[in-house]
Amino acid sequence: MPLVYLFGWKGRLVLSTLLICAVIFELANCQKDAEEQRPIPGRKPKLSKPTPGESTNKGPRAVTAKPKVKATPASQAQTFLTQVLDRGKFKKVGETISVRTGDTLELRCRGKPVQWSVPSYLEEEDDGRLSTVQHERYGVLTLVNTTGADTGEYTCYPMYCEDTDCRKEYDKAVKVFVFFPDPQELFVPSSDYYEVIQLRTNWPTVLPCQVTSPEAKVSLHREFPPVEVAVDGLEISFNVKTGFTIHRPRPYHAGALYCVASLGNLRQSSIKYMLIYVNYPMAPPAPVIQASSSLAAVGENLRVSCSVLGEQDVAVEFTWEYPGQQIGRPLYTQESITPVGGGLARQQSQSVLLVDEVRDVDQGTYTCTAQNLQGAKSVSTTVKVVPKAKAKKP
Ligand SMILES: *[C@@H]1O[C@H](CO)[C@@H](O)[C@H](O)[C@H]1NC(C)=O
Repeated sequence: MPLVYLFGWKGRLVLSTLLICAVIFELANCQKDAEEQRPIPGRKPKLSKPTPGESTNKGPRAVTAKPKVKATPASQAQTFLTQVLDRGKFKKVGETISVRTGDTLELRCRGKPVQWSVPSYLEEEDDGRLSTVQHERYGVLTLVNTTGADTGEYTCYPMYCEDTDCRKEYDKAVKVFVFFPDPQELFVPSSDYYEVIQLRTNWPTVLPCQVTSPEAKVSLHREFPPVEVAVDGLEISFNVKTGFTIHRPRPYHAGALYCVASLGNLRQSSIKYMLIYVNYPMAPPAPVIQASSSLAAVGENLRVSCSVLGEQDVAVEFTWEYPGQQIGRPLYTQESITPVGGGLARQQSQSVLLVDEVRDVDQGTYTCTAQNLQGAKSVSTTVKVVPKAKAKKP
């Protein structure tokens, strides 16, 4: 019995309805309820708004599937993904396919059940154009009234189920990159005029100018001075499914860049990418912690310092955990950065935790966590608090 379910929160609503129903009622009744909660299709497709600094590239998002089938044997044969063409013809898909805009994309994937992931904006904008159906042995994804914006990766994950507990079989996932060549839009549209992208030292950076047609010729350009950027495949490479990648960013890569696509008589520019160079540390920080004394007398002042020797202009952030924290003991920190002399451009970042008039609750472990863009590292030291009388004054 085929069962229709949809995406987004409504899909999850349907899912939870089914789960609750499965316990209380018979499945037949529940399916009726679930069907009644389907949203009304026919809304206009909209584009999602990417936040600055975040990639507009439509990464795949998981789509909630409904676990219907009980205990599926794990070792179903290999997964197949086929495209359903007109008049019930099937075609096994390769790495990429092209579907004319306006046409319906229909993919069929073997598995019971299967879960799909689609370009993220399609999942965010539940406009009724996307639907999936689970049949006895395969799942079907249907996307109607397609546009260039639907270009992206579509993945089918066969699910392994034990009763209602299902998980994706990642190793059996099959994906296809679908282009929807749009005669008017060579680039997948974006709701922003520009996108800010961080160029991190030695970290590949992607300019996600995604074309809607695999046939488009794409070049990379700099705004000031207006030049075409050489794409040699090593320093910078192009992939029709992802855009341009700067493999080892350097400060001179920074600036305003954009892509130009041409196909036939059409020549179009992408949105602008503002590339900002960020000094990126080579490694996570290596903090060193030291308490002014490991034996503090009640009433004395205690200082615990945490310092990191690192590259210049690389920010280090400190966080502390200390014994008095749970009872809300207010402690203070002093942070400083000091350049370190001698050839190499290095600096010492330090955070000092000040404990005024030590009390019994201050006894225990002090942990400092230092973090930079590469990661975080924690170090600890313990402090013992002794009664006033026993402590020797210097
Ligand atoms: C698809 O487009 C047709 C014609 O414009 C329209 O009638 C139909 O409601 C659309 N379907 C969806 C699901 O958006």
